[in-house]
Parts: sequence; C-alpha cells; structure tokens
Amino acid sequence: MKKLCEDVANAVSDAIGSIIGRVEGGTILYMGADGTPTAKIDDVAERAALRVLKEDGRSFELISEEIGSMTIGEKPELTIVLDPLDGTHNAIHGIPFYSFSMAICGNDLSQIYYGYVRDLVTGDVYMAEKTRGAFLNGRKIRVSETMDEYCVSVNDHITLDKNCKIRLLGSAALELCYVASHKLDALIDNRGYLRVTDISAGKLIVEEAGGIVTDCMGMPLKLPLDVRQKIRIIASNGRIHEKLLAKLRGEK
Ligand code: IPD
Ligand code: CA
Repeated sequence: MKKLCEDVANAVSDAIGSIIGRVEGGTILYMGADGTPTAKIDDVAERAALRVLKEDGRSFELISEEIGSMTIGEKPELTIVLDPLDGTHNAIHGIPFYSFSMAICGNDLSQIYYGYVRDLVTGDVYMAEKTRGAFLNGRKIRVSETMDEYCVSVNDHITLDKNCKIRLLGSAALELCYVASHKLDALIDNRGYLRVTDISAGKLIVEEAGGIVTDCMGMPLKLPLDVRQKIRIIASNGRIHEKLLAKLRGEK
C-alpha cells in the first residue's frame, strides 16, 4: 500500500506543480460529486491520481472528492478514500499548506486500515497502519501530553481559555497529522463541512499516535463512505478532549 500511495502522491505532486499559486488553477470547471465546485487544480490532481490507480492493475472501489465513487477493475478487494489535494484554496493562492490524503478502508469510518498523508510543500509523509502506530518520515509519532496550555485549530465560534493558542491552517488532513505529531494539541471543526475524503487518513494517524477523534458530541464518528455526507469533528491528544467538548456545550 505504501508504494501505491507514494506513486499516486508523486503523480499528483508533479501534475499540480506548475499551477500552484496561479489564478488559472482556481478556474471552476464543474460541480464536484460532493456538491462543491471543482477548481482546475482539483481536476488536474484527481486525473493524475486516477491514471496511476488504473495503471496499478488491482481492482479498487474508489471514493474521491470530485468524482464521488468509481469502481476500478472487475472485483474490488479494497476501498480507497482519496483527497488528491486537501487545501485547494491554499494551493491556488500560494499559501504553503496543502496536502495529499489517501486511506484504505473497509465499509465505513470505523474500518480504516491504512492512512497516508503527504505535506505537498515540505514532502513530509505521515502514515499509520491499524494497530501498528503512526509515523512521520518513518519515525514513530505521539500526540502531545499537554493539558493546560494548548494550541488548537478551531473552525467554530466557541470561546476558549486565555491560555489557548489558535491556529487555523486550511488543510484538515494535514492539521490532523499536526495533532498526531504534537504540533497542534487539537482540531475542532464544528461547521458540518468536512467530508470523509478530508479526514479518513488523518483520523487513523491521530488514533495510532494515541489521540482521540470523535464527533462534536463526543461520539464515535459515524459517516458512510460517501462524499455528499458531512461531519463535525474534534480530534485531540485525548487529555483535553473532555474540556473541549464542554466548551462546545457552552460550559465555562
Ligand atoms: C478543505 C480543507 C479545509 C477545510 C475545508 C475543506 P479541500 O478541503 O480540508 O481545511 O476547512 O472545509 O473543504 O476542499 O481543500 O479539499
Ligand atoms: Ca479536502
């Protein structure tokens, strides 16, 4: 799986290289299967990914942000959940924070076996295999142990403690990896905008690094592998999870 993820990520990275930070990359071409407009750069990224997956020769069920779902080959053995470019706005505007995300799954979000996220700016690779831990460029990673002073990516209007730092970076897949590698202590997205493609790989990477990912009520994520479905999530180092859930409930 690692090799396939690498090959697909390489193809995406090569394909979008010349249009990063250019207005033309933001030209809207059509409406994506997820119900949001597909920019040229998303289309270029997804086509490059599809080319490699089709050439691989194995059969997959594919869930991808722009095409929705597609069967590759005759008898799919695996389901791939793909976001060829997470952080489209950043990539179009030349803000250096966007990523590639690919997960191998069973039937839903409770069955993610393999997650791979590449920071398309630095080349850093975050990956996790179920029960085998999470890694950054081959080195094992753990979530932070912070409880009192913490740094959170927040997409919500909650009021957080004075000792909380806020960083909203614009690629949910990569921000989840930042939680896994203790650069962030948590991520909260309470808008109901995130899709399975944004979070599948990152969810496994956070969990395998010792963190927790739930919905904004503190319940396990329930989301079918369907890009039209949206979800609210909170991912954290575990230690501050309850405190953040209480804030979301409006408690002081
Ligand atoms: C976006 C990113 C971003 C999140 C948006 C998503 P996209 O994905 O994950 O962090 O705030 O809601 O749409 O559209 O760039 O693949
Ligand atoms: Ca995305």
